[in-house]
Amino acid sequence: PHKIIIDTDPGVDDVLAILLALSSPEVEVALITAVFGNTHAPMTFDNLLKMYYNLGLEFAAFPEARKRFPLVSSENKTLVAIGEDGPIGGEKHVATYFHGPDGLSNISETHPEFSPAPSKPEDEHEFVKFVPRKGWEAILDVLRAEPEGTVSVVALGPLTNVAWAAREDPATFARVAEVVWMGGALDVPGNTSPVAEFNCFADPYAFAFLADEVKKGAFRLVFAPLDITSPHMIPFSDLLHTGEGGEKPTPLQAFTTSFLTRVRGLQAKFGLPDAMEMHDPVAVWYAIANRGSRSPELAAGWAVKGRQFAVERNGEMTRGMCVVDRRGTGEETSIRTEDEELKGSGLTKESAAKLGKEDKA
Ligand code: BDR
Ligand code: CA
Repeated sequence: PHKIIIDTDPGVDDVLAILLALSSPEVEVALITAVFGNTHAPMTFDNLLKMYYNLGLEFAAFPEARKRFPLVSSENKTLVAIGEDGPIGGEKHVATYFHGPDGLSNISETHPEFSPAPSKPEDEHEFVKFVPRKGWEAILDVLRAEPEGTVSVVALGPLTNVAWAAREDPATFARVAEVVWMGGALDVPGNTSPVAEFNCFADPYAFAFLADEVKKGAFRLVFAPLDITSPHMIPFSDLLHTGEGGEKPTPLQAFTTSFLTRVRGLQAKFGLPDAMEMHDPVAVWYAIANRGSRSPELAAGWAVKGRQFAVERNGEMTRGMCVVDRRGTGEETSIRTEDEELKGSGLTKESAAKLGKEDKA
């Protein structure tokens, strides 16, 4: 299997995405790093442990369920680490309005049965091994230890940990097969502000930095913006296992149903469809399908294409916007200066200014 590092902020759709990766024999999850985003980093990490705890209950109740998660085992524990709890630049924002104060619809309070007994990250866990390193250090450790070009980084939250890793040790980071990210909005409105998608909004500095590196050819980054992820919805009726109809949910189904039920209610309140947008799972799906390949045929098959845009870092209303030049000039985001306007017009700055004055008069 192709090795992947998942950098994530669980988060309701993050949990679904991680479960998708763990149940796919095509990829081996070598490391999972938590980052702030949907909630604060200590809690996103804790949600990761909750997910593994409920996976353990699933295995205990249904030993055959292990077959659906072939690489999850007590012998081969996945490395996990806690990453950054705030962006590289700008104010910190979290998406608790959607994901709940704990990032998982507040189930820590409403459904304590889905949470393991309080434990410290470094405590013994059945399927994960805690790495007492910063998230970005742990990412670099794995990239250093594995052969070049064999590990993909799959980022499902703000790009803070990934940008730190690339900034602190560019040579090691360049060993990555590719970076796959869920984030951004190119030709559609944002979901956090009129123009920005949440992961991009939460740390636009990180994305802007990585995008510059990509432009220099340092590594490859393929991202799934809202344009692609929003239309991929699964009806809540297919996702929830409420026990209606007499079929008792399995422990894992009961766990996911507990936090998805609140999201369903929230979406109804906002007048949104009765279906869950599969943002993070779409990015994981691509990572599973492509497995770090650079073959142009494959890329064409997945409709991967290059786009030119710039990332707004600190606009008053446009933080995290992917600014696409819609003028069709091919000049990206260049601002036409006065001098450039004058080029070829036969006017000098002085004569133009004079004309301007005369116009006003
Ligand atoms: C992204 O933001 C988060 O709320 C989701 O987990 C996803 O990563 C969608 O904009
Ligand atoms: Ca996420």
